[in-house]
Amino acid sequence: MKNSLHDFIQGLPKAELHLHIEGSLEPEMMFALALRNGIALPYASVDELRAAYEFGDLQSFLDLYYAGAAVLQTEQDFYDLTMAYVQRALTDNVRHVELFFDPQTHTLRGIAMSTVFAGIARALRQARAENDFSGSMIMCFLRHLSEQDAFDTLDAALILREQYADLWIGIGLDSGEVGNPPEKFSQVFARAHALGFHVVAHAGEEGPPAYIHSALDVLNVERIDHGVRAEEDGVLMQKLIRMQMPLTVCPLSNLKLCVVTDLRQHNLARMLRAGVCVTVNSDDPAYFGGYLNANFSASAEALGLNRTELAQLAKNSFCASFAMPEQKQIWLDELVAYVDGYLAE
Ligand code: ADE
Ligand code: ZN
Repeated sequence: MKNSLHDFIQGLPKAELHLHIEGSLEPEMMFALALRNGIALPYASVDELRAAYEFGDLQSFLDLYYAGAAVLQTEQDFYDLTMAYVQRALTDNVRHVELFFDPQTHTLRGIAMSTVFAGIARALRQARAENDFSGSMIMCFLRHLSEQDAFDTLDAALILREQYADLWIGIGLDSGEVGNPPEKFSQVFARAHALGFHVVAHAGEEGPPAYIHSALDVLNVERIDHGVRAEEDGVLMQKLIRMQMPLTVCPLSNLKLCVVTDLRQHNLARMLRAGVCVTVNSDDPAYFGGYLNANFSASAEALGLNRTELAQLAKNSFCASFAMPEQKQIWLDELVAYVDGYLAE
């Protein structure tokens, strides 16, 4: 099996650009943290909890996801959560992650902003020191809440900016998409831009192509998270190709949340072959049945992706990252060496 596609994927160096750290909370850890923090869960066992992970749409997932996050209480909890993800990512040969976190999910429950930052940051700094791995943080606003709430969240986080300048690189937008268009956050994104943050937004997951247009034109995002509904708009597709605007696509998420009914119908391969800068990501791996390599493998199998295409997806992940150009070149050289070595065998 040395030459199987799975082995090829396993060894590919890659970056993950769409990962909600709260979405990496495995049922086992949810139970352990609930016990540690004296919180009652409405499930009798890990198996019962896992069995509840049947979603009809994004909102049905978000309801469980926000409820599950309630077990995260202390700095140590956020550290443990992040470190568990890092260990899993290292297994998948992930070299770099730009992870999302949702402070409003925690501050609304009375958890201090500083607790959230400190735990995630301690794990990422340790991971950087001990491994060939780097991580940075993108703080997301919950789009079902108001723009004023986002402003308040930004203000509260800015007090910590200097302390986490090595890690906190960007601002994102997530949660229930339909009915919460990007325009709702135009002012706060303008402020984030002015402050020098990278900006990204979920758009075109469940929402229409118009939301992708406004994420680009109103929020001035540098990447679109998901973006799979872009295919419904030919003009938009040409624009994405012309701009080489990265899409952080999450195939198993789209399957679990019924954005597609069958992975064989997913447009990842069509968009890649059309010249869109698509990347593969895991979104909320604890809920959607797979980390990054599982997303690569399932997509390769369902869509017939060959090694050249898989290598292109890995290349896109490094190119679309917010890392320094010199660092990107190191990863890209490593990727080329890996692919050349593999094909020469
Ligand atoms: N928050 C966590 N996962 C999400 C997703 N797939 N879409 C929107 N918000 C999210
Ligand atoms: Zn997401």
